[in-house]
Amino acid sequence: MRTMKLGTSSLEVPVLSVGCMRLTSLNERDAEQYIQHALELGANFFDHADIYDSGKCEELFAKAIHMNDDVREKVILQSKCGIRKGMFDFSKEHILHSVDNILSRLQTDYLDVLLLHRPDTLVEPEEVAEAFDLLEKSGKVRHFGVSNQNPMQIQLLQKYVKQPIVANQLQLSITNSNMISNGFNVNMENDAAVNRDGSVLDFCRLHDITIQPWSPFQYGFFEGVFLGNEKFPELNQKIDEIANKYEVSNITIAVAWLLRHPANMQPVIGTMNRERLNDCVKATGINLTREEWYSIYRAAGNVLP
Ligand SMILES: NC(=O)c1ccc[n+]([C@@H]2O[C@H](COP(=O)([O-])OP(=O)(O)OC[C@H]3O[C@@H](n4cnc5c(N)ncnc54)[C@H](OP(=O)(O)O)[C@@H]3O)[C@@H](O)[C@H]2O)c1
Repeated sequence: MRTMKLGTSSLEVPVLSVGCMRLTSLNERDAEQYIQHALELGANFFDHADIYDSGKCEELFAKAIHMNDDVREKVILQSKCGIRKGMFDFSKEHILHSVDNILSRLQTDYLDVLLLHRPDTLVEPEEVAEAFDLLEKSGKVRHFGVSNQNPMQIQLLQKYVKQPIVANQLQLSITNSNMISNGFNVNMENDAAVNRDGSVLDFCRLHDITIQPWSPFQYGFFEGVFLGNEKFPELNQKIDEIANKYEVSNITIAVAWLLRHPANMQPVIGTMNRERLNDCVKATGINLTREEWYSIYRAAGNVLP
């Protein structure tokens, strides 16, 4: 598995993260096998959130991996907090309380990375700063990041928070690529020019914040997988053609498309299927040509100005 530095930190991480949102779709035995398989592939970075199946994904993970001090040293654990039923909550009290619960469910003393899950407009960044300082001083969290945040929100946080924001987890796939499209269509009078994210792609590149694309195979908001889906005939034809050339499967090309971007992204892979995970890891050995990358982008229905 290829590795990279996470943001400006010295933490060396695999270029693919194993998303654990769907872990409880497996029973304990299958979860154990899946996690062991990931580790054998060198995929030892696991992405969690306190809300995944109401904490049960974190609990199952700890059981399935047989968490102890030796095991803990071999894995890199990221989790998220800040989403509550019907609201978002970046208060100091909620962040501290959430981390204690996450650590207890994961049966560990520390998180390698904590992300704030979704922007809270009632955020008081001074409070976040206090929470992060306490978490860092106590050794409960080593690195900090965000998810689904635009550049101004990150800058507001960073005005008060002294720890660098090392990652921003954002929805990004071949079929959900507005953050790329708006950069092609600056100032054009078309829908692709609509800048919904404040140029987050360029901002993250400028500040060495690692983008972690979530739902790399989904279209819409969890509407389904675009791979092999008859709703996307042209795209699948193009992906299959390139997959044939490299003698890999279509999912490998979908991951290679994200990895080809020079922003050094770390896609969060959500499959619970060992074969598919193997195929995703194969993408780390493929460097799509510029022509291939653009032809996939266009086949998804995107038009270059
Ligand atoms: N920060 C955020 O707001 C946020 C939001 C959502 C998710 N996430 C993170 O991102 C991770 C990935 O999200 P995700 O699971 O939605 O993304 P995903 O990897 O795009 O989707 C995984 C799902 O698609 C299925 N799948 C993949 N390839 C397939 C294929 N070729 N044919 C049929 N089914 C296929 C998988 O089924 P199999 O298991 O059978 O392969 C699984 O159910 C999550 O685990 C979580 O860690 C973060």
